[in-house]
Amino acid sequence: MNQTLRFTVLLLLCSHVLSWRKEEFRTCHQTPFCNRARSRAPSSSSLAATDVTISDGALTAKLISKSDPQTKPLILTLSVHQNAILRLLIDEDPSLSPPKQRFHVPDVVVPEFPSTKLWLQRISSENGPSSSVYLSEGLSAVLRHDPFELFVRDDSSGDRVLSFNSHGLFDFEQLKQKSEGDDWEERFRSHTDTRPYGPQSISFDVSFYGAQYVYGIPERATSLALKPTRGPNVDESEPYRLFNLDVFEYIHDSPFGLYGSIPFMISHGKTRGSSGFFWLNSAEMQIDVLAPGWDAESGISLPSNRVDTFWMSEAGVVDAFFFVGPQPKDVLRQYTVVTGTPAMPQLFSIAYHQCRWNYRDEEDVEHVDSKFDELDIPYDVLWLDIEHTDGKRYFTWDKVLFPHPEEMQRKLSAKGRHMVTIVDPHIKRDENFHLHKEASQKGYYVKDASGNTFDGWCWPGSSSYPDTLNPEIRSWWAEKFSYQNYVGSTPSLYIWNDMNEPSVFNGPEVTMPRDALHYGGVEHRELHNAYGYYFHMATADGLLKRGEGNDRPFVLTRAVFAGSQRYGAVWTGDNTADWDHLRVSIPMVLTLGLTGMSFSGADVGGFFGNPEPELLVRWYQLGAYYPFFRAHAHHDTKRREPWMFGERNTELIKDAVHVRYALLPYFYTLFREANTTGVPVVRPLWMEFPSDEDTFTNDEAFMVGNSLLVQGIYTERAKHASVYLPGKQSWYDLRTGTVYKGGVTHKLEVTEENIPAFQRAGTILTRKDRFRRSSTQMKNDPFTLVIALNSSQEAEGELYIDDGSSFSFLKGAYIHRRFVFKNGKLISLNLATASASNVRYPSEAVIERIILLGHAPGSKNALIEPSNQKIDIELGPLWVQRARAPAVMTIRKPNVHVAEDWSIQIL
Ligand code: NOJ
Repeated sequence: MNQTLRFTVLLLLCSHVLSWRKEEFRTCHQTPFCNRARSRAPSSSSLAATDVTISDGALTAKLISKSDPQTKPLILTLSVHQNAILRLLIDEDPSLSPPKQRFHVPDVVVPEFPSTKLWLQRISSENGPSSSVYLSEGLSAVLRHDPFELFVRDDSSGDRVLSFNSHGLFDFEQLKQKSEGDDWEERFRSHTDTRPYGPQSISFDVSFYGAQYVYGIPERATSLALKPTRGPNVDESEPYRLFNLDVFEYIHDSPFGLYGSIPFMISHGKTRGSSGFFWLNSAEMQIDVLAPGWDAESGISLPSNRVDTFWMSEAGVVDAFFFVGPQPKDVLRQYTVVTGTPAMPQLFSIAYHQCRWNYRDEEDVEHVDSKFDELDIPYDVLWLDIEHTDGKRYFTWDKVLFPHPEEMQRKLSAKGRHMVTIVDPHIKRDENFHLHKEASQKGYYVKDASGNTFDGWCWPGSSSYPDTLNPEIRSWWAEKFSYQNYVGSTPSLYIWNDMNEPSVFNGPEVTMPRDALHYGGVEHRELHNAYGYYFHMATADGLLKRGEGNDRPFVLTRAVFAGSQRYGAVWTGDNTADWDHLRVSIPMVLTLGLTGMSFSGADVGGFFGNPEPELLVRWYQLGAYYPFFRAHAHHDTKRREPWMFGERNTELIKDAVHVRYALLPYFYTLFREANTTGVPVVRPLWMEFPSDEDTFTNDEAFMVGNSLLVQGIYTERAKHASVYLPGKQSWYDLRTGTVYKGGVTHKLEVTEENIPAFQRAGTILTRKDRFRRSSTQMKNDPFTLVIALNSSQEAEGELYIDDGSSFSFLKGAYIHRRFVFKNGKLISLNLATASASNVRYPSEAVIERIILLGHAPGSKNALIEPSNQKIDIELGPLWVQRARAPAVMTIRKPNVHVAEDWSIQIL
């Protein structure tokens, strides 16, 4: 490398590391398609639907332009699926030989989805100007012909639920042959995008009826309920951008898009409930949320119980899905019928992770590991960042710093712990690096606009990127994770995919040029938001193959797209150690959960900067409830392992980690619920209390499952917190058992010891109260049941258990119980469906303690059946490990087997 180049690279790397520079990224104003779309006036679309017919069980029509007969018609296809799902496809007419086939994103819709299609038998024509088809009981999909509009209608009331192009903003730029004089190039800063296919953007409006707010479309740091970006009384802002970017030092409140893009929006309102809209399109997208009355100028006045949105994308096709709810959980179910439910994680991966950029060497790893033991703080995973490799060549080890990787992993594994190493998509262009040599020989890299291998800068310097859109390349990549290929890896090693937006330090907006070329001639612009998705998929497949199909993969990814939930966990990237970032982590995690990515978390402690001990402690207290719970820090920060800030803070952090370990059985049960239904582990309050308006914009508190409400503390030296506890039932303080009324905002005293958390009356929580080194070591430990009774002296809850690592649960090797407390009797019911193969999960675990909150005093005994055994009821500590824990009504050592049917009658 010559002097000047070396200098430029150094400069680039440094500027990258120091801070996010806003001017590196395009605004809507600097993005021609966004500008064009935003300047369109309502009703400017002059399309009409003609030739409406049924073909292959779907409704098809032509969309013709009335203002310009020269414009080629578009083809519209409308199909109806089980679960009241409507799919709309609009593309150019292939029989009219467009210059190129537009990109339909493959492998996101699950393979089973097409078979849920309801074969349409007939179209009802209503008054001539529209056609309607049956969607589900009481709902129809109506296509208005002229002007073209599509909506879902509630047949009994005639009310609309969702609509498309009601404001006539639909626009579809068709591909053209370039003629002389056409200048399609676009420049941004020093970069030129050749745009060989010219303008090809698509935009349209979507309206949600009976809705007060919309949510979703991650990833960005902003409020949970999306604020309007345009309209009367709104300071016009940037639209919400979906464009996967490596944004260093992102700010805590901005519509600007971060590392991942999930083009799925969910609406909610008090009367109608929720509906959803998903646009399967991986090109850059920009979305406006329009304030009520936004198009008053054109004479349209909008009712306020409806939210209008405007969607713009640079390329691709319209492949859109409408979900009718009506409850928030229904929308999640419908969305995950299309894109898949979250993978069932291994038990260890939902416990606590210790990470830092970087643990220096084997000695450092050993030291950190032994400190956790010395202080009795459980942890499950030790992470190694990029510095563990030989010169940022992934799948290798720095021979000086990590000379015995297998032994290092074995030592961790002996304590039931795991290791995660980082594998990024940028491959060092070094002829002596076998991976690079093979990838270049096979032509497996993404190409630049002229068809040569794309060469960009990232951590290793000059790098190329595998084209994992191609299934053959994915399968090649997957092979790299075999024990034979990944020398130094062992069965306790799992993977972290970072920088997969992809991050290219010297590329436009720190990413790959839009005119780079992928498999099948697909331009990067068409695929961009899904690049990281395919890379993540290939990595997860690699771990699947490595484990011969019987070890659940764990792969953390930074870039996500719709469907990423099938492949692993996500974290919210490079946040900062300040209170605002602590606060925004909750709407960010909730939003990811609302769009399928249930397994998510933020870097505990904040990636950049040095947290004050108080902030760090508060972060652990909140992070203990993130679905993905990992501490991480930038290499320039001071060491901040739990013992770095004096004994008191160590105790507080340890206590926060203990809460997570105690609740692991509950979390694991929720992960299984997400895996079967799509309903996320952590939920906005309105998902559990859909008709309580006071919850709709609350992004400080959240639900863990249906039983726990958690309120973060987001300010320094807080002495009080206002906590809104929804619902008619009461709530029990998780620590003290103190009961609080529901439907009221309580002003509570807070101490440094914990953040407010409450168990909902009417629920039963499962805990494990013996702390060990790792979750793996707790596997056969007994359970505690905490029964929080409601005013009818009733409660119920569930527990799911399996081996925590393999796929045997799919064959029936699991335990799923429902505990019901009613009429003074606790019953354990089997929820597992009988498996054909008679496979069982043989747990010997017992219930060692049952705690009753809110029970009328006086009972002294209980009778266990079928063993017909009488047992004492006494006062015992709510938390056994905690000094000063309040005494509560306890049944000690009932020792009933968790896998069996039994009942316990309070006498
Ligand atoms: C960026 C990631 O966001 C961060 O977590 C990681 O430590 C660095 N890359 C280095 O790999």
